[in-house]
Amino acid sequence: MTLLETIRKRRSQRAELLDTPITEEHIHDLAEAARWAPSPFNVQPWALLFVTDPEAKAALGRMSRESTAEQLGSADFVQDVARWTSVTEDEWRARGDGVFLGDQLAESSLAHTVAPFLMKHTKAAALLGKLGAGQGPGKATERLLVDAPLVCVVFRDLARVSPGANGDMWTSFAIGAMFQNLLLVATDLGIGAQFVCAALETPGGRRQVGALLGAGPSLEPALILRLGYLSSDADKLSVRRTREAFVGRNRFEEDT
Ligand SMILES: Cc1cc2nc3c(=O)[nH]c(=O)nc-3n(C[C@H](O)[C@H](O)[C@H](O)COP(=O)(O)O)c2cc1C
Repeated sequence: MTLLETIRKRRSQRAELLDTPITEEHIHDLAEAARWAPSPFNVQPWALLFVTDPEAKAALGRMSRESTAEQLGSADFVQDVARWTSVTEDEWRARGDGVFLGDQLAESSLAHTVAPFLMKHTKAAALLGKLGAGQGPGKATERLLVDAPLVCVVFRDLARVSPGANGDMWTSFAIGAMFQNLLLVATDLGIGAQFVCAALETPGGRRQVGALLGAGPSLEPALILRLGYLSSDADKLSVRRTREAFVGRNRFEEDT
C-alpha cells in the first residue's frame, strides 16, 4: 500500500475484532510510530499505556458504560449528537461529514427502530436516557473495551508543554500527530482501532482513569483506543467533504 492508500483505508472500526492477541513485535511498531511524531520544540508531550490486564480493561469498560449512560441523559448532548448524525446512508454520503446512525448501534438492537425518531425528538431521547435507556449503549461500549485484545490509553504530559502563549494548543496538535502515526501503522499491520473516549469526557472521569492506571499528577488521559486484528480486508465506509469545500488558494472568497 502507498501511504495515501493507507491513509484512505484507516477507519474507526466498529466491527468485531479477532480475539488473537496483538504480537509484541506489532506493539513495538505501534510505539515506534508514535515515538517519531512531530511536536513543538520536540517536547514530546505524551505517554502511552498498552493495557491487556483483564481487570484494568473491565474497570475502563465500567467507567465507559457509566459515562455513556450519563451522557445520553443530557438533552444538550443528545442534541449535539443529533446535529452530527445522519439517519440514512444516502443522507450521510450527501453531507460528507458526521456519523451514520446505523454504525453507532449494535446489529440486533431494537434501537435501530426507535433511534431515527429519537434523533428528531432529542428532548424525549434525553428523558428516556434519564430513565435508563442509555444503559443499552453503555453496555455495548463496555463490551468494546472488555473484549478488546489490546487497549491503548494515550496521555497528555502536562509537564511537557511547549513554550509560547499558545503552548496548550500546540501540544494538543502534537498528540493528534502522535496517535495518527500509530493508527496508520496499525492499518498497515491489519490492526483495527476504535476510539472509545466516553470515560474521558469530564475532568472527574479523566482523574478516575488516571488513578486506575497509576498515572502521575502530570499525566492526563487524552484518548482510549481499542485495538485488535481485523477479520477481513473489507473496506468500511466513511465519508468526507469534498476537497473544494475546505481547500483554497491564496485567500478565502467573499461567499466562503
Ligand atoms: C479525538 C477523537 C475522538 C474520537 N472519539 C470517538 C469515540 O469516543 N467514539 C467513537 O465511536 N468514535 C470516536 N472517534 C472517531 C470518529 O467518530 C471518526 O474518526 C469519524 O467518524 C470518521 O470516521 P473514520 O475514522 O472511520 O473515517 C473519535 C475520533 C477522534 C479523532
